[in-house]
Amino acid sequence: MGGGHQQDLGGRTLEILPALIHDLPASYWAYDDQDKTLFVSDGFAFSQYDSAECILLSHELPKPTTAAEARLVLDLALYWSRYADNAAIVTDLAEMLRKYETRMICPAHGSVITEPSKLLAVMDAALRGEIGVYPPVDGAVAERSDQLVHKVKMDVAAQQIEALEYLASRRRSCRAFKPTPLARESIQRILGVAQKAASWCNSQPWQIIITSGDETARFREAMYNAARNGAPQRGDFPFPREYQGVYAERRRESGFQLYSALNIPRGDKLAYARQALENFNFFGAPHVAVVTTDEALGVYGAVDCGAYVANFLLAAEASGVAAVPQASLAFYSDVVREHFGLGSDRKILCGISLGIADPDHPANSFRTSRAELAEVVSFVGD
Ligand SMILES: Cc1cc2nc3c(=O)[nH]c(=O)nc-3n(C[C@H](O)[C@H](O)[C@H](O)COP(=O)(O)O)c2cc1C
Repeated sequence: MGGGHQQDLGGRTLEILPALIHDLPASYWAYDDQDKTLFVSDGFAFSQYDSAECILLSHELPKPTTAAEARLVLDLALYWSRYADNAAIVTDLAEMLRKYETRMICPAHGSVITEPSKLLAVMDAALRGEIGVYPPVDGAVAERSDQLVHKVKMDVAAQQIEALEYLASRRRSCRAFKPTPLARESIQRILGVAQKAASWCNSQPWQIIITSGDETARFREAMYNAARNGAPQRGDFPFPREYQGVYAERRRESGFQLYSALNIPRGDKLAYARQALENFNFFGAPHVAVVTTDEALGVYGAVDCGAYVANFLLAAEASGVAAVPQASLAFYSDVVREHFGLGSDRKILCGISLGIADPDHPANSFRTSRAELAEVVSFVGD
């Protein structure tokens, strides 16, 4: 179907017309010869910034739409029109309205235009209005447009924080993956977001190695063998000296959540160890990201890599990719270093196994808790 096509709808014909004003290249307009109605898709953002007015026919509006109002809507919805030579649009529009007798114009948004002849002069002024030189705007319109811009900004901010809240609360550590590999573009997109992480003096100390296919299998074999055979654990970073108080409680709680999801009885140390070994099977994931930091940057570099990992995990969640950060892989940092031929200047921080979650696996059936904000935040001052 394209411009000029006529569709018989039984007693009425719908003629497809070129879209004189549009924001997408594949837009068309249509003309109904029975009701003499022109459907202009997004073409006329004529009067649509007041929800009470949007539902009115144009002749019912409390006052006629001015060129300034039409220009404002064009600026908001069809911003390109500021940079285009619109004279031809107005001429073509006049020609179209001459050729196709039109009683009503039905845009995708805003009021239905019932007096097309009056529209033309307004659209002409709005479209030809010199860039930056608007037809005079009365105070009420200026105020309404300010309110609208403010509302749009607020709406965007609300949507952004809602999206982030949603992602942060959906994300969880995945401990059972399907073997299906991820598309490289998907991984690259996640890396692109992670790369935006803040770092001390913008040093960006992280370096990432990502395995796929046979390379994941080879890395898995090296790590699994080291762990199963009880190779000495020599992490580049010291293990926490002690988990005390609430930290010990939270650690215990999350451990028991995992074990009870997997039906492992309390105190079954053999089963605990077997489950711990799954870390080195990467929980079946098709990819592992190994995160390393620069030795000389010490704790600061490690903190920056933490920010990187957090960004990575949220970006993965946003992409429908499941992931689990794994400090356990860094317990065997010499195995990792040797496997990937890394120098002693690179310190192994953690791995991140990633892929598609197995939603039915019991290891993915629980959610960890979080302390109340009041337990961790102190507001000082108003
Ligand atoms: C730096 C870091 C290292 C982690 N190492 C492991 C690990 O080796 N094995 C594991 O199963 N989970 C590991 N986790 C996942 C945590 O156990 C998990 O984030 C925590 O219990 C909160 O649960 P959630 O991620 O599902 O919200 C690690 C998390 C972080 C941030």
